[in-house]
Amino acid sequence: MSSDKAVGAGRAPRAKVTAPAIMDMKRRGEVITCVTAYDFPTARLADEAGVEILLVGDSVGTVVLGYESTLPVTMEDMIHHTRAVTRARPTALVVGDLPFMSYQVSVEQAVANAGRFVQEGRADAVKLEGGERVVPSIQRIVAAGIPVMGHLGLTPQSVLAFGGHKVQARGEADQERLLRDAKLLQAAGCFSLVLEGIPAKLGSAVSRELAIPTIGIGAGVLCDGQVLVSHDLLGLYFGHRPKFVRRYAELGDATRDAFARFVADVKARRFPNETESY
Ligand code: KIV
Repeated sequence: MSSDKAVGAGRAPRAKVTAPAIMDMKRRGEVITCVTAYDFPTARLADEAGVEILLVGDSVGTVVLGYESTLPVTMEDMIHHTRAVTRARPTALVVGDLPFMSYQVSVEQAVANAGRFVQEGRADAVKLEGGERVVPSIQRIVAAGIPVMGHLGLTPQSVLAFGGHKVQARGEADQERLLRDAKLLQAAGCFSLVLEGIPAKLGSAVSRELAIPTIGIGAGVLCDGQVLVSHDLLGLYFGHRPKFVRRYAELGDATRDAFARFVADVKARRFPNETESY
């Protein structure tokens, strides 16, 4: 076994990670790790590796379902994938991502769909995108007893309004607005906040100003934690690769190679051999 494979193996069992435990990590100065997971094996492996938060992101639309954006993803898709993740019984906190148009219509719709993530998906928390305009929904979801993770900056569900996946809040006025939104989300009861695609200096400033932890993705190293889409991290996504993505494996190449060797073995009648036959 290579030393890379040994990382995370044999880790001491840990207690279930809760939303208050994630807030405590910031108080203790512990850096938080989060990856996306959409299925049982990924949830189990990331949990065994010690990741604290598994985000069932609506990025499932682009990296698993083959859509060009996250906009077509439905509540049914999200519940299906959240169930697969929670069936792994991870100790990591499982956050379900409210998809486009599952919370924008009304506060009632937002609370009902957040409830579906908990009741049907068995999620521990939900995430939604946006600033001031989603504050009433966050307040009601939190009042219903469901922990909420906020999401500001390059929020992919607003890709049409942004005119593409562009770094946000480069100007002073936009930076002030984002900081104000972050404080509003904290006051509304969010237990954490994803900051995506913003200048590193702003990520650091927001993290300093807030008591709740920030989880950055393309928001610099001084956020309280970092999140990556697992398919980006593992080399399993073939679309655009933003500069903030670091690849920790090339599973796309490894997978293609494994399939090619299977094809070659079958064609040459090298598979199955005697020990693989009855
Ligand atoms: O859907 C997702 O994967 C996300 C992360 C990029 C934060 O929202």
